[in-house]
Amino acid sequence: MSKFAERMTTMEKSAATIRYLFGAMNDPGIISFGGGAPAKEALPIDIVREITNDIMRIDKRGVEALQYGPVMGVPDLREIVVNDLLAPKGVRCNVENVMITSGGLEPINLMCQLYINPGDVILVESPTFMHSVEIFEMFQAKCIAVDMDDNGIVPEDLEVKIKKYEPKMVYVIPTFQNPTGRTLSLDRRRKVAELGSKYDVIILEDDPYRDIRYSGSDLLPIKAFDETGHTVLANSFSKIFSPGSRLGYVLANDEITAKLFDAKSATNSHTSMLPQIICAEFFKRGYYPAHHKMICDLYRERRDIMIESIDKFFPEGTKRTFPDGGLFTWAELPDGINTTELLAESTGNPEVKVAYVAGESFFTEGNGKGNNCMRISFGGVAPEKIRIGAEKLGKLICSKLK
Ligand SMILES: Cc1ncc(COP(=O)(O)O)c(C=O)c1O
Repeated sequence: MSKFAERMTTMEKSAATIRYLFGAMNDPGIISFGGGAPAKEALPIDIVREITNDIMRIDKRGVEALQYGPVMGVPDLREIVVNDLLAPKGVRCNVENVMITSGGLEPINLMCQLYINPGDVILVESPTFMHSVEIFEMFQAKCIAVDMDDNGIVPEDLEVKIKKYEPKMVYVIPTFQNPTGRTLSLDRRRKVAELGSKYDVIILEDDPYRDIRYSGSDLLPIKAFDETGHTVLANSFSKIFSPGSRLGYVLANDEITAKLFDAKSATNSHTSMLPQIICAEFFKRGYYPAHHKMICDLYRERRDIMIESIDKFFPEGTKRTFPDGGLFTWAELPDGINTTELLAESTGNPEVKVAYVAGESFFTEGNGKGNNCMRISFGGVAPEKIRIGAEKLGKLICSKLK
């Protein structure tokens, strides 16, 4: 028998949930509001074909793409992060402090490598993104939930729990949060940054949805309020370019960046060169603004149809969020509906065949918290299917209340 490391046991439950989710996503007979993947129409296939051909024709770039590369990432892509993605959002920083990572999840993994010993506490939002919890549990961290309301994580509860648990890290998804679609208010962003500085705690700001805003106005990231270097900003190219390319980035102060360099080098040397170069060329050739507008228009339409359909077909007493961006809404159903139990029926019943993610999976507290909630992802589903799926799901829920 293989003698697996202890960490493989601590992450078993969260890993099983994620495996199940990917299974439902790939069943073609199901209308899936489950996964968080971008729409296939949002993938810039023709542009990438043109760029890839060019890269392989330009001798220097071809060699660069297929050779080993720098640990911190391709210089032009790092400059794009600084000048095109962060500066317009109010974050001024040096290229030296930006590392290109393999997807948006890698910064979370690397930060755990830097900070987490078995038994350390990480404060997370309630609810939070289960994939990150899987990583935290792999490092044998203890996740403690902090209250959230419609304006995001509640700073008063955060301060109480920082004092009580002395966490190593606070993990926050401030914009169009996964799973709720909620956005942390500006005032709270400042407070969260201040709490990190005051109590010498790392604030890990995970912000992969911020660039898909299709209504309302931009808010400064938590990092913009950080005066002491306690906030580390992680982001991803998955939702604005392509998730299969596995590209993300992390911005940290000099001291943390030096450690990230060591951890990244020991983990995988550097992020794959070909996707980095394709992505850099995508921005440098000026494709991003039109592409960005196209995806925002597409997701706004889907959000509107989903919200309209929930309001029409879900039972009275349902509460749902209204996201100004991102891919998800979150519905809280009237008491008495258990969304974990309902999921088996909604996917198994041939008259329904609709998937979502049951709310319970996003709560680290256990005890059935969130068992009347569901995360509904509209980003990857065509408008007509959103209407049909939401109607079928709504009718099934209503039938349970009778
Ligand atoms: C909150 C959050 N963080 C990180 C990620 C990971 O992004 P990536 O696919 O780039 O690894 C996701 C992806 O869905 C996410 O929702």
